[in-house]
Amino acid sequence: MFSSDSVKKFNNLPTPFYYYDIDIIKNNLKSLKYSLRSNNKVHFSVKSNTNKRILEIVKSYNLGIDAVSYNEIKHCLDQGFDSKDIVFAGVGKTDEEINKAIEKDIAYFNVESFQELDVINQLSKKQSKQTEVSIRVNPNIFSETNKKIQTGSKDDKFGVQLEDISKFSDYDKLSNINITGIHFHIGSQILNLSPFEKLCKITNETISYLEGNGVTIKNINVGGGLGIDYMDPENNLESNFKDFIHLFNSKIKLKNNQSIHFELGRSIVGQCGFLISKILYTKKSYNKNFIVLDSGMNNLIRPALYNSKHKISNISSRSNKIEAYDIVGPICESTDTFARDYEMVESKRGDLVVIYSCGAYAESMSSNYNLRDNIKSYYSDTI
Ligand SMILES: Cc1ncc(COP(=O)(O)O)c(C=O)c1O
Repeated sequence: MFSSDSVKKFNNLPTPFYYYDIDIIKNNLKSLKYSLRSNNKVHFSVKSNTNKRILEIVKSYNLGIDAVSYNEIKHCLDQGFDSKDIVFAGVGKTDEEINKAIEKDIAYFNVESFQELDVINQLSKKQSKQTEVSIRVNPNIFSETNKKIQTGSKDDKFGVQLEDISKFSDYDKLSNINITGIHFHIGSQILNLSPFEKLCKITNETISYLEGNGVTIKNINVGGGLGIDYMDPENNLESNFKDFIHLFNSKIKLKNNQSIHFELGRSIVGQCGFLISKILYTKKSYNKNFIVLDSGMNNLIRPALYNSKHKISNISSRSNKIEAYDIVGPICESTDTFARDYEMVESKRGDLVVIYSCGAYAESMSSNYNLRDNIKSYYSDTI
């Protein structure tokens, strides 16, 4: 995937850095667009990537934004997104955040508790506004993914329990909110679509219950969560939007005025980003062969936080010999380890190493831990 030309270019840039392949994200967005129907709307989950260049591309494909803090809303407004295309989720929105989002007339709030509904109602009243809300329901669906990124099982902090949907009609009578939607998001990095099929069944049952009780639902927001291939990214650069979107379109029974909303993050941007590093040192210690990179868990925290695996390649070594390495960063934490016993070509100080699938939850989750500098991003069409 990376030619000798890329290696030459990368060698002239100060490492580490994020590299975004613009063709990859554009092709992926094209295939997403191709899978959508007129009554579908996608809000890009901006927590996965807040990079301005990436947002500019996302915007050019007419996607809206799924934000989880007012700062994310502000960031996207500053990038030219229309407030009417922004939805606001999050289990702990502050009064200040709610006030500002009401002021900006965002599309709707994804509300995570009945107490929050009361607060949004009171704050809307003070601003003499009528606010549209969707209620996030925790459907108690198990999804085969890392426990730390499951969000729709009964012990997870998100949403209101299914048993409480009977309360919606009372809350719908509050003076300054309109309950116009339901919202689900069952987790992230889900590759087997069967939990989503269960979600469709629960969605249909929930809507028919609500409509039978006088609550009119306009937006059915099924969240995001579609996974990507971290093991073989080069052969799977485009996400399986076709099957994912088709599943919801074929299983959810829609009335004329209803639409299905999606909040996709990882599946849109995951494969377009790469973390490019240089090898600072190699060393043998007891029975381990270490490669110490100049990038660390402050640039890509997923392996340290979730035990996630990423494909890693040495793109400048000319050796054919394969060795097993522990590939680590410079941070003073043992968990600053990208991979253990990872088979890679024989590597030496100064070699360039690429970590794949870093377009989602890498740059946006980066930190200055150990007071390390922020690193730059470069783009395939400008270097
Ligand atoms: C409410 C909500 N919607 C959407 C997403 C995006 O998920 P993904 O990047 O897996 O598509 C998340 C991510 O955790 C989320 O919390």
